[in-house]
Amino acid sequence: MNLLNTLADRDAYDRAVEHFGRRRIALPTFAELAEPARIGPAARSALAAADPDAAAPANLFRVHWYNDAARSGVAALPAHVVLTEALTGVAAPIVVVLGDRFPMIQAHKVLPAYACLVSRLVTGRFDPSRQRALWPSTGNYCRGGVAISRAVGCRGVAILPAGMSDERFAWLERWVVDPADIVRTPGTESNVREIYDACAELERDPANVVLNQFSEFANYLAHFSVTGRAFEHVFESLRAQRPSLRLAAFVAASGSAGTLGAGDWLKARQGARIVAVEALECPTMLYNGYGEHNIQGIGDKHIPYIHNVVNGDVAVAVSDRATDQLFVLFNDPAGHALLRAQGVGDDAIAALPHFGLSSICNIVAAIKTAKTLGLGADDALLTVATDGAAMYRSEFAKALDRHFGGAFDEGAARRTQNTHLAQAGTEHVLVLGEVERRRIFNLGYYTWVEQRGVALADFEARRDPAFWQGLHALLPQWDAMIGEFNRASGAA
Ligand SMILES: Cc1ncc(COP(=O)(O)O)c(C=O)c1O
Repeated sequence: MNLLNTLADRDAYDRAVEHFGRRRIALPTFAELAEPARIGPAARSALAAADPDAAAPANLFRVHWYNDAARSGVAALPAHVVLTEALTGVAAPIVVVLGDRFPMIQAHKVLPAYACLVSRLVTGRFDPSRQRALWPSTGNYCRGGVAISRAVGCRGVAILPAGMSDERFAWLERWVVDPADIVRTPGTESNVREIYDACAELERDPANVVLNQFSEFANYLAHFSVTGRAFEHVFESLRAQRPSLRLAAFVAASGSAGTLGAGDWLKARQGARIVAVEALECPTMLYNGYGEHNIQGIGDKHIPYIHNVVNGDVAVAVSDRATDQLFVLFNDPAGHALLRAQGVGDDAIAALPHFGLSSICNIVAAIKTAKTLGLGADDALLTVATDGAAMYRSEFAKALDRHFGGAFDEGAARRTQNTHLAQAGTEHVLVLGEVERRRIFNLGYYTWVEQRGVALADFEARRDPAFWQGLHALLPQWDAMIGEFNRASGAA
């Protein structure tokens, strides 16, 4: 198995060092991104002048959870909101950490994009002066990849289904160097196989390097170390105010399953259960199902290679009817008025624009989990808002038409709140035992061994918890290599 911990090509490495040296671009370590207080004074002062939404190299040092509300400075804690019973209908607090403070794309997917690129750069597996970085995705990862590519001065190509939101394409059109760097594949959210096929075709050209978020362990490791640590910090800050609080569960919808990597950190340190979420209209984990859905970012019909299935505890499916309708409730004045009247606090109302479709999916899944496990007021659930509502403005109008005949009023708000929050039930929730874990793990065989040619022994190795623990040793190795790379380029 290729774990990217040895130097693959000295010439590519030397050219990469030269590329970064000429541009005076320093690379942050994983430890710095996990705890930005570690970032040195030089990188910090370069940040002061950098616009968080520009393709500036300094923004690499903002690829972390601690950006402040202006997205330019460093906050003491990651931005988060605690959703209480008035909104969720369950006593267990649901803590949502906000991803839209990340630089350039306003979603945390720049973190895995950076991780996948840097692990290749420092091991001589990507030559930014000659090669193009290909970013396969259902939307945000390819935006993250294009942003990181622009920031470091290399060519980045986005590969995504043609049916994704207008906002994603509008953003990409502004950011790519050449319109040909947007490759549209057939279908929508759950058509991941078509993305793989396009990559396989493009990869025949050695100038193209595919940075496959679904199979690069850098994605898993970035979330394990950077997201895991940041989220634990949020939980610890809440426990400092309420010492009886336990971390009952970490809930995250799976696209590439990268974010679920934070669950491995939180389970090892806090005993949190790991809850993997998917769309009911494409219930791969629950029912080996298939289908189209609109929870953009959580493409499915396969089990990602970097999903540590054996460490999972619960699988939950959420309908895109719930996410579409709640998206309207959360972004319409009639919805806000109803929630306020029901006692939902100003901080929660103010957080609603920070919830994209998959964020709402995570919140509903957390409610369903709390009900299934019988969680109480001392059992916190941690989850994530990967991106905010800004990425889905066009989806608001579509959902309004599709579900509410073009108009949303108090009655519609009440019905939506009642159906999808108050009455969110325990159906389509599977508490995983040995049999279920094995079944979900085995499903990955068809994608990775049969279709993509992964060696059976490599596929099977991932069944053993020791494999994932062994992976964690890569993080200090990569950090040492990043330090060495920065020294060699002179940008340290
Ligand atoms: C909006 C959104 N939500 C959720 C996810 C899933 O995150 P992950 O790929 O880490 O599983 C993605 C992934 O691209 C996303 O863009």
